[in-house]
Amino acid sequence: MSITVKGPIVEMDGDEMTRIIWKMIKEKLLLPRLTMDLKYFDLGIRRRDETDDRVTIDAANAVKECGVGVKCATITPNAARVKEYNLKQAWKSPNGTIRSILDGTVFRKPIIVKSIPPAVRSWKKPISIGRHAYGDIYKSVEYKISGAGTAELVFTPEGGKGKVSLLVHEFKGPGVIMGIHNTEKSIRSFAKACINYALGEKCDLWFGAKDTISKTYHGFFKEVFDHEAEARRADFEKQGIRYRYMLIDDAVAQIMKAEGGMLWACMNYDGDVMSDMVASGFGSLGLMTSVLVSPEGKYLYEAAHGTVMRHYYEHLKGNPTSTNSVASIFAWTGALSRRGDMDGTPEVTAFARRLEQVVVTTIEGGVMTKDLAAIAEPKPAKFALTEEFLNAVANRL
Ligand SMILES: NC(=O)c1ccc[n+]([C@@H]2O[C@H](COP(=O)([O-])OP(=O)(O)OC[C@H]3O[C@@H](n4cnc5c(N)ncnc54)[C@H](O)[C@@H]3O)[C@@H](O)[C@H]2O)c1
Repeated sequence: MSITVKGPIVEMDGDEMTRIIWKMIKEKLLLPRLTMDLKYFDLGIRRRDETDDRVTIDAANAVKECGVGVKCATITPNAARVKEYNLKQAWKSPNGTIRSILDGTVFRKPIIVKSIPPAVRSWKKPISIGRHAYGDIYKSVEYKISGAGTAELVFTPEGGKGKVSLLVHEFKGPGVIMGIHNTEKSIRSFAKACINYALGEKCDLWFGAKDTISKTYHGFFKEVFDHEAEARRADFEKQGIRYRYMLIDDAVAQIMKAEGGMLWACMNYDGDVMSDMVASGFGSLGLMTSVLVSPEGKYLYEAAHGTVMRHYYEHLKGNPTSTNSVASIFAWTGALSRRGDMDGTPEVTAFARRLEQVVVTTIEGGVMTKDLAAIAEPKPAKFALTEEFLNAVANRL
């Protein structure tokens, strides 16, 4: 009997090996068991090129409307990709475009499997990373200086009065400069999103920055975070959780000795770097989930990894692959359980939870892809191919 998912889900298809996995997940695990109202957008590189990237903008706006989306990994084209796919231009990162439309925070959380021990001995519970997804070096202007001269930071208020100029550096010779920014609105919604996530998951919230050195820029992030956390103090107490501000270097040192179970809120660059550190510490990129949460409470789920290009080229040559589909499956279960909660359909949420459990017990039962087989304890006698793993999950489901 099929379970009906009441509300719509925006589905964004993607590229390369993850596009192949995506289709298998739908055909083997979801479509035989669920009736879904999917709003399909093909974000594969060819379709983005055909539509001059309009399809990415339409897909992001559809998430705004429907509230829930699920996204397959996509190619962010560079010069080599422009040549490979004969593209009109190197289109922007789809994730960057979507994030700037939804203005969200990205939360990454590893999937814990008993037979995959974390590289860090003390880690027992998942460490979630909340990455601010706006500004800093990701929206910077940079300039390479060819010789001696003066670099200044200039702010001209609207209306032109009260102009401020700050000396950056008197260059005696060649060098390089960069200007970065952030907005109070975005920082505040980042802090609010992290607080809501921590309260929802009943986990402590850590925030780390470098306000001792960057007293104004990083200091402003700290001020906003402290203020927003203070405003929710009663909720923190009710849930029995804590907010802690730490210097980023202290946070890094402490995370290596902690047992996990916290949300670690990071500025944009720290989140980019630390989420890969945490993913690899917990085993594999194939076990890292990712969700973009907008300040209005819209959710876009995806796997944290890319399109697994190397496996795709093997696949094109007709060679068997062993690509981990776990994080992509969890992207779907994340979207389904969110839909279930929003629609008041517990049977949909229960299906999502059961699928997640089956995936974990399949791996714990010794069936896993090559990336996991290499680090599992005990090691399985052989690893499963991409399709074999999905078949094993489907059989147990
Ligand atoms: N969210 C996204 O859409 C996203 C994120 C990152 C990269 N990308 C894109 O993906 C493409 C490939 O990028 P990349 O190679 O740097 O990143 P990648 O995540 O695809 O691969 C990085 C490494 O991890 C391994 N790996 C990743 N996921 C795996 C899985 N599920 N199973 C087994 N091994 C796995 C790969 O074999 C590779 O060695 C690029 O075009 C990039 O633009 C997209």
